[in-house]
Amino acid sequence: MAIPSAFIDELVARSDIVDVVSDYVRLSPKGGSYWGLCPFHGEKTASFHVLPDRQIYHCFGCSKGGGVISFVMELENLPYVDALRLLAKRAGMEFPEEDLDESSRRQRARLLNLNKEAARYFHSQLHLPVGREGLEYLRGRGLSKGTMTRFGLGFAPESWDGLIKAMADKGFDKRDLLDAGLAVSNQKGGIYDRFRNRVMFPIIDLRGDVIGFGGRVLGDAKPKYLNSPDSTVFNKSRNLFALNLAKTTKLGRIVLTEGYMDTIALYQAGFDCAVASLGTALTADHAKLLSRFTKEVVIAYDGDAAGVQAAGRAIPMLEKAGLKVRVLRINGAKDPDEFIRRYGPDAFSRLLDQSENYVEYNLRQLRSRYDLTDPVQKTEFARAAAEMLAEMESPVEREVYAGQISDLTGVGKSALLQEIQRSRDQRLRSAKKKQARRDMTPVTQVQPRARNMKYENPRSARAEEGILRLLILDGSLLEETEGLDTQQFSSPYLGKIYEVLRHRLQEGRALQLGMLEGELKREEIELLADILNQPEAIENGKKAMADYRAILDTEQMKKGAADEAALLAAREKYRQKKSI
Ligand code: GTP
Ligand code: MN
Repeated sequence: MAIPSAFIDELVARSDIVDVVSDYVRLSPKGGSYWGLCPFHGEKTASFHVLPDRQIYHCFGCSKGGGVISFVMELENLPYVDALRLLAKRAGMEFPEEDLDESSRRQRARLLNLNKEAARYFHSQLHLPVGREGLEYLRGRGLSKGTMTRFGLGFAPESWDGLIKAMADKGFDKRDLLDAGLAVSNQKGGIYDRFRNRVMFPIIDLRGDVIGFGGRVLGDAKPKYLNSPDSTVFNKSRNLFALNLAKTTKLGRIVLTEGYMDTIALYQAGFDCAVASLGTALTADHAKLLSRFTKEVVIAYDGDAAGVQAAGRAIPMLEKAGLKVRVLRINGAKDPDEFIRRYGPDAFSRLLDQSENYVEYNLRQLRSRYDLTDPVQKTEFARAAAEMLAEMESPVEREVYAGQISDLTGVGKSALLQEIQRSRDQRLRSAKKKQARRDMTPVTQVQPRARNMKYENPRSARAEEGILRLLILDGSLLEETEGLDTQQFSSPYLGKIYEVLRHRLQEGRALQLGMLEGELKREEIELLADILNQPEAIENGKKAMADYRAILDTEQMKKGAADEAALLAAREKYRQKKSI
């Protein structure tokens, strides 16, 4: 599909790279540019670099780089056109869609619209006589009217077609209701409301669209909660309840709960940082999503065995997403909602401050599996604990915890530290082996580090890179390339890119790396990002351009001379041969 280049240029111009990257990566400003943890490879120190004036990103660690479009392509794993589509939506620009895409886009918009209308309907029922019971139920759980409004809570009356009828009045048919999971079909081909006699929790995504619902029975009937099924607009493993609110919290961390009610109770008590998964276990996608908005997650699951098990699974996943993890210990209540109701917000605040970091938490869990009055088990615990502490990067922390284990078990601290070191050495060795194996696989050859590209004439190539850099940074310098010919480029690769740039500038088109991403290959974009990441004397562009051209000239002359010398030598050899 041909997309008008003017559209792409405008889209790139309206998609600031810092804004877009910030949707996915926490960036910190430093000296005119931004740094963050690279989203393309796991790392603990920031080597991912975003340059607003050049509109590029570049990672010093894994060498990935490019403009705004390739960033979205890489990160969302999307083909070019879909990345454009995503950016267009983000920038509020109408995408020049083909008919097929148009119809699925319409379908999506229709379902979102239906969900919004349904949420309005459920909410309005709360304040009608038919919704009395629902309102009473929510009040009974301590929710204020303000909280109900903030979360758009509602009520689905005891009826087989209350919602179906109300939505029919708004122009939605059977198909729409089934597609959105708001209705269920019966054997006779009829449909009925999925949610009946339940208080309703709308699930709202980051854009503010209602994508699904959770519904709770008023009494003890089963199932206690009913959720919308996954649909074109709803994916439980990629969304979190109330993240639309928590994403802007000033509390510096996000509290992860198991249930809607926990999250809402926390919010009402002043903790606007709570989210809940949607009746499913936490996924790696959830963890990644959270890491876009916070550095620290506090797990506040129920205190029962299931909650402990779920926390045990969530911790490594959150850690892997680069998050600091703490775990809350709830005593005297089964979940955060009950705790707040019983002891109040201040007590919860203290609980938050006392929450254990994951090492403390893991150690305590580990300890509970051993009988420390038994000498054999005591030693086994000490060994297992040493294994666990070996994962800690900070030697100070290892010291501190080794001391604690020593006190607990009577095993000497220095013996423990030795054991820890042994385990660390082993880990290091196996990590090195793994890395060596990785280095040998062809994957690394498919994505060569741009900087390591072998140039035939490195001196000339650096100057050629400089010319490309200058042209992208200041298109008016095209004048200064008068008479420069691709033949003069020692690298055909760079020569080709030069042609593309020159052509664009001659047409009077704007030039940003992001705008070239449809025309150049991935490796070429990566190389260009790397080139653009190098410093340049742009205030003195004309002079810099002249210097680069002078280098090209001398290198070309040298090559000419060398060629000539080689020719002479060859002739001489030939002559000698003949004379023999
Ligand atoms: P309350 O009794 O209202 O306080 O519930 P809770 O928020 O304490 O929920 P609970 O700990 O029982 O469950 C946690 C979460 O799991 C809920 O918020 C739901 O998302 C989900 N859940 C609970 N029960 C069911 C169920 O029967 N079916 C489904 N699909 N999900 C459930
Ligand atoms: Mn509860």
